Amino acid sequence: MTDQFSKKSEAWSARFSEPVSDLVKRYTASVFFDKRLAQVDIQGSLAHAEMLAHQQIISAQDYADIQRGMAQILSEIDAGRFEWLLDLEDVHLNIEKRLTELVGDAGKRLHTGRSRNDQVATDIRLYMRGAIDDIVGLLKALRVALVDLAERHADTILPGFTHMQVAQPVTFGHHMLAYVEMFGRDAERMADCRKRVNRLPLGSAALAGTTFPIDRERVARTLGFDDVCHNSLDAVSDRDFAIEFCAAAALVMTHISRLSEELVIWMSPRVGFIDIADRFCTGSSIMPQKKNPDVPELARGKTGRVNGHLMSLLTLMKGQPLAYNKDNQEDKEPLFDTVDTLVDTLRIFADMAGGITVRPEAMRAAALQGYATATDLADYLVKKGLPFRDAHEAVAHAVRDCEQKGCDLADLSLDALRQFSPLIEADVHGVLTLEGSVAARAHVGGTAPEQVRAAIRRLRGSLA
Ligand code: ARG
Repeated sequence: MTDQFSKKSEAWSARFSEPVSDLVKRYTASVFFDKRLAQVDIQGSLAHAEMLAHQQIISAQDYADIQRGMAQILSEIDAGRFEWLLDLEDVHLNIEKRLTELVGDAGKRLHTGRSRNDQVATDIRLYMRGAIDDIVGLLKALRVALVDLAERHADTILPGFTHMQVAQPVTFGHHMLAYVEMFGRDAERMADCRKRVNRLPLGSAALAGTTFPIDRERVARTLGFDDVCHNSLDAVSDRDFAIEFCAAAALVMTHISRLSEELVIWMSPRVGFIDIADRFCTGSSIMPQKKNPDVPELARGKTGRVNGHLMSLLTLMKGQPLAYNKDNQEDKEPLFDTVDTLVDTLRIFADMAGGITVRPEAMRAAALQGYATATDLADYLVKKGLPFRDAHEAVAHAVRDCEQKGCDLADLSLDALRQFSPLIEADVHGVLTLEGSVAARAHVGGTAPEQVRAAIRRLRGSLA
């Protein structure tokens, strides 16, 4: 990794022996990973320089030179020609040094009224704002894909589980819409976090503010921030907004992981509810028959690292006195990896949702086992006047009888059913079918196909 960084050095201090200095340099440098902030660093610097010129802290000519130099640096970075120097420690010093090489004194004036402390805090916020916007867009794409899948299967019935035991029949569309709700709240959390990300630290300088007549609101406007940070000590030091983002990201992955777990179970040949398109699966190097759901498994696994990043940032922050400490340099790798993991995972899942083949017969067969309509029979008896607890007891006896006979409740004749309650009449068979069971749950939030379609209409409106 370090090989791509030139060893061209500033003068070595005679106080340090070469090997230790090399190690310490490597240890304290962040340029390997913070060069990802180059574009936002330049964006922030240009807004700062524009304000300095407007306030006549630097000349119009200096600002023009800085603009020209930064344009050149951006093109060098884009073309992969920019020479990143380990000796210059981080993205900020690398860019500033090159700017000075290109435009002379104007480059040296850029850092007037600024510190790397407020500079890096600004960079991270700009970077995160873009990342949040990307993630909100990807969550939306995933939700649209899941709504499409739900719509194709608004009437498909599978067993709903509690405790992984067959509980009551549900529609597959309803099941998918549960995840659409989860990812919808995830998007809300991201949008809410963005409000606290989108405030400007610049102007706080190292920690106490600056003696120059700066205009922070102007910089905030130029950079599209909603507000300035109102305390310089807080602005340069806290990373609570990044922690909050990682918490929201951990929840996204938690939801992805729950979905993944279901996909893995459903694709097991023992269950056979779904198949996942080959392009998301891999084979085994030894067992020719295998087709493994690698993508959901890996996503389930990656949830662990995103949760870990949240713990890293919380722990990073907890012991820090005001104001900036070098500890904060450690915020970047967990943050960047969280963004990368989420972006890749969401992109793949939106695509994979369209590659899921549902097997309605297997779902139906499973729903017919396990007495999934027992609650419907109890509700039927309640509607005929029996108290619920007595109805529950009567149905429990019927289920036990079915277990002995090896049949389903719907297979019992009317006479056989009436042994358990004389209230049972010929209309009972309507409630014992899977279709009758799901159709009866027709209130808002229920599993009935008509409610699934209503929910889809509502969602399509909000996703448009
Ligand atoms: N690379 C540093 C970071 O990521 C930039 C700020 C350095 N500030 C300082 N006073 N050493 O936090």
